[in-house]
Amino acid sequence: MIRKCNQSDLQSIYDIINDAAQAYRGVIPADCWREPYISVEEIEQEIEDDVVFWGLEADSELAGVMGLQNRGDVHLIRHAYVITRAQRQGIGTRLLQHLESNADKPLLVGTWADARWAIAFYKNRGYRQVGRSEKDHLLGNYWNIPQRQIETSVVLADKRWGHGRRGL
Ligand SMILES: CC(C)(COP(=O)(O)OP(=O)(O)OC[C@H]1O[C@@H](n2cnc3c(N)ncnc32)[C@H](O)[C@@H]1OP(=O)(O)O)[C@@H](O)C(=O)NCCC(=O)NCCS
Repeated sequence: MIRKCNQSDLQSIYDIINDAAQAYRGVIPADCWREPYISVEEIEQEIEDDVVFWGLEADSELAGVMGLQNRGDVHLIRHAYVITRAQRQGIGTRLLQHLESNADKPLLVGTWADARWAIAFYKNRGYRQVGRSEKDHLLGNYWNIPQRQIETSVVLADKRWGHGRRGL
């Protein structure tokens, strides 16, 4: 079952993200890695900033979460994580499809350039990696992340996001 997360899911969201983010350890640049990867306060801040978390529940427990953030003329996919033991079983795909069905605007997603599996996940589901200058512009414009994360990330866009949009 996919459902919108609420305040009582905060700890589960924290647990899922920090478990799944272990995939980044030793892969992303060392200065970008943190333990825990995200704090409860940061998740709360994201919710405050209009990130709506959706979760897939299996056996009465959340197994994966994905956030959708409304940013004017686009929606951002934020914090897409499936608990390690349940990865590669279709949960991420189901959550992504759910977000897509809830989004009436182009969808953009940012991820670490070194997270090859995540890039493959989106590319195999119809997303296109945008060029470097467009990526820098989009991350600076729609995201609120440090410069270092902009340098070390990529952006993928769904089919609704046209090529060379706004002359980028
Ligand atoms: C990326 C992620 C959300 C996908 O969710 P999922 O439930 O594992 O994905 P699905 O089972 O629906 O789809 C699996 C596909 O994802 C990609 N993938 C996921 N994990 C992978 C891994 N460890 N190695 C290689 N490919 C992987 C592959 O394209 C795979 O397709 P395949 O099984 O046909 O090879 C999940 O694996 C995850 O949380 N990973 C760690 C954190 C992360 O990278 N988050 C992305 C932030 S944008």
